[in-house]
Amino acid sequence: MKEKLEQIKIAALREIESAVSTAQLNDIRVKYLGKSGEISLIMRDMANVPKEDRPAMGKLVNELRAAVEGALTEKTERLAFAEKQARLKEETLDITLPSGERGLGSLHPLTLVRRELIDIFSVMGFKVAEGPEIESDLYNFQLLNIPKDHPSRDMQDTFYVNENFVLRTQTSAMQARIMTTTQPPIRVVIPGKVYRSDDDASHSPIFNQFEGLAVDKHITMGDLQGCLTTFAKKIFSADTEVRLRPSYFPFTEPSVEVDVTCSMCHGEGCRVCKGTGWVEILGAGIVNPAVLDMCGIDSKTYSGFAFGFGIDRIAMIKYGIPNIKLLYENDMRFLAQFN
Ligand code: PHE
Repeated sequence: MKEKLEQIKIAALREIESAVSTAQLNDIRVKYLGKSGEISLIMRDMANVPKEDRPAMGKLVNELRAAVEGALTEKTERLAFAEKQARLKEETLDITLPSGERGLGSLHPLTLVRRELIDIFSVMGFKVAEGPEIESDLYNFQLLNIPKDHPSRDMQDTFYVNENFVLRTQTSAMQARIMTTTQPPIRVVIPGKVYRSDDDASHSPIFNQFEGLAVDKHITMGDLQGCLTTFAKKIFSADTEVRLRPSYFPFTEPSVEVDVTCSMCHGEGCRVCKGTGWVEILGAGIVNPAVLDMCGIDSKTYSGFAFGFGIDRIAMIKYGIPNIKLLYENDMRFLAQFN
């Protein structure tokens, strides 16, 4: 028996020593220490050992068991460490390898133009304001001298939210908001989204306007013309000319429509300006005294000018964009051109 134990010990330790993987060590553990492993069987056989020999034998078997277990544990640790080192080596990342292509983003053309416009008007002393896109009928129409059921409401195809609220059709709504809460001097520009039920190559149901309002003592049409000429020369080119044509808006009196010389052909006449050399870019005028009074500004003391145009239209002219939809489709092939 003693010899048998000695043999098992030698065999087991040799197998453990020559094992090359933790998987192999596991098999060895089962072979010797598992439920029907060799050492476990001997322990079970103890019943057949003469009673007086049992304590000594028991001690030997326990020693054998401890020796095998110790060797297994020690070798397992060593192999596990080696295996981990090997895996780490195999899995190293080469962080110096170039990564996949990822292009640099760019600002949307509408953002570019809006920022440029704000810069131009800031220099002329205008502050920037913003307002709600769901607007009350009061600010969008009534305080701008467009009463309910007035025919001039047909100038704009309105999305009604309910009887008293609309998706604002014009940033002019902010004129009323500002004039009812602020006394002159006022110099403010308002960029923002507006909505109209309109849809073709040059009209989108959502588009962006840029409004301007100046109210002070002695403001005249000359101030309006000077301001808009400065703006046109800066946003297009220094040789751009401006012309004012009489027009009609309920909230300005007199009203004008403003044309600039075509930036494509510089007034020669081309496809963009339909051969006329001029393109219309905005509506403007002297703030209607009735509007000043309705908003709580004394029209005997103060006068003002206001203008409004589509940022989209300026971008289309400036960059030669043929269809307004391009500005809202987010096609990367289009947007990537504004890097
Ligand atoms: N709100 C007008 C429009 O959307 C433009 C405008 C603004 C006209 C300010 C005059 C003064 O057509």
